[in-house]
Formats: sequence, C-alpha cells, structure tokens
Amino acid sequence: MIIAANWKAYVEEYARAKKLVAIAKRRARDLNGSVILAPPAPFLGAFAPGNRSAIAFAAQDVSLTTGGAHTGEATAQAYAAAGATYAIVGHSERRAAGDTDAVVAEKLAHAHAHELTPILCIGERERDSEGRYLSFIREELTAALDSRSQKERARIIVAYEPIWAIGKTAADAIAATDLAEMVAYIRKVLGELLPGKGAERVPILYGGSVEPANARDLAASTGIDGFLVGHVSADPDSFAALLRQFS
Ligand code: PGA
Repeated sequence: MIIAANWKAYVEEYARAKKLVAIAKRRARDLNGSVILAPPAPFLGAFAPGNRSAIAFAAQDVSLTTGGAHTGEATAQAYAAAGATYAIVGHSERRAAGDTDAVVAEKLAHAHAHELTPILCIGERERDSEGRYLSFIREELTAALDSRSQKERARIIVAYEPIWAIGKTAADAIAATDLAEMVAYIRKVLGELLPGKGAERVPILYGGSVEPANARDLAASTGIDGFLVGHVSADPDSFAALLRQFS
C-alpha cells in the first residue's frame, strides 16, 4: 500500500505539521507499504531536508517555470533540492485554478527532469450514464503522457480522484465495484501508452473521501495500490487511525 497524504492548505501550524510527520514515521515502520507526505512548501522545507526515514515527501504542485524572475513560484528543482522525491501534478484543485492539460504535461516534464516521481491526478467531474467519463479519463491520461518517453511514462504514479468524491465523507466515496472497473480501465489505457510490462507496474491510487471507515474495503477488492488522502491526512488522530488500518 502507498498512502500519500495531501495536506493541501489544511495544515497551517508548525506544531501540527511536526505531529503529523512523527505519526507518519512511527506508523511507517509497521505499515505494509510506504507513506508519502505532501505538506505545504514551507513545511516540506522544514522536514524533508536530509530525510532518511521510512517516509518520503512530495510537492503538492510544481511551478510551470524553471527558475528566474518569478516571484512566489516554487520549481521542481527547488523541491528536489529540499528533499522531495515525488510531486503531485494535475490535482483537480490546481486544474480548477487554471492548469490545463498542456500545463499538466509541462509540469510532469519538470518533475521528471528533476527526478521527482509525478503523482498524476486524473478524475471526472461527474458520472454520466453514457460512459463519457471513461473517454474523459483516457484524454487526461493521454494528454499528460503523450509527450513523455516510454521510460518516463513508466516512472509515474496515477491517482484516480473523481472530483465528485473529493472532500466529503466515506459515504460519498466511490463504490468498490465502480472503482475496480475504473482501475481496470486505467490499466488498459496505460497499457496502450506503455506497451510491455511497464504499465502493470505503474501504481494506481484512489483519492476522494478516503477515511478510516472505508479505506480497508476500498483497498480489498479493487486492484488499487494505495490512496491519495486529503482531509483525513491533515488531522493527527484520523491520520493515525487510517494508517492503523494497514499495519
Ligand atoms: P479528500 O481529498 O480525501 O479530502 O477527499 C483527496 C484529494 O483531493 O487529494
């Protein structure tokens, strides 16, 4: 299991950040898998440098720029220098703030160029009865990976996060059968983009209202390799409870 914790902008106090890092380190030892923390940039800068623990750090996003006179931007290179080894790219909240498919593809390239493994987020806004959401997923994947080499396509994590399920409660998360169907579909599209064995090895995460109450069931029968967790990952007690589900 890969548990990636997207703190978003929920965590704003140093003491809480420190507590969450400590919980992740402690629980990672018993976990059958790995923990990746994606804190806001200042906290990544505080905890990731020199990190040799069992946990890893991810940028929540990377800049479209590659350095220079761009006040307020944090580049992939700067994140890598601070100790990040992953970068979330294409999160729906960044897409809503203006990241087009072309921007996402460029950010993916910046992440790869600096040895950050991209956690590529894809996900439909709504489910229609004609299955248009499937073509939407295909387009998002293809647009992000089209310009990448075969080697780079193999070095990604895909996070399937249906927008309609984000930021709610366990009851609003996707049904296990629907998730299993989507994971199979994503694997099929990845197989077309990445012939050979490579596609099978790309981890697929699910995100969207993952909570201690539903995580185990979602993990059991859907073929996912882990979760990208939002609000639950920003609360020390809930995050510890979630990690306990997998130890
Ligand atoms: P959520 O967020 O767990 O709060 O639904 C998931 C995400 O947006 O990554």
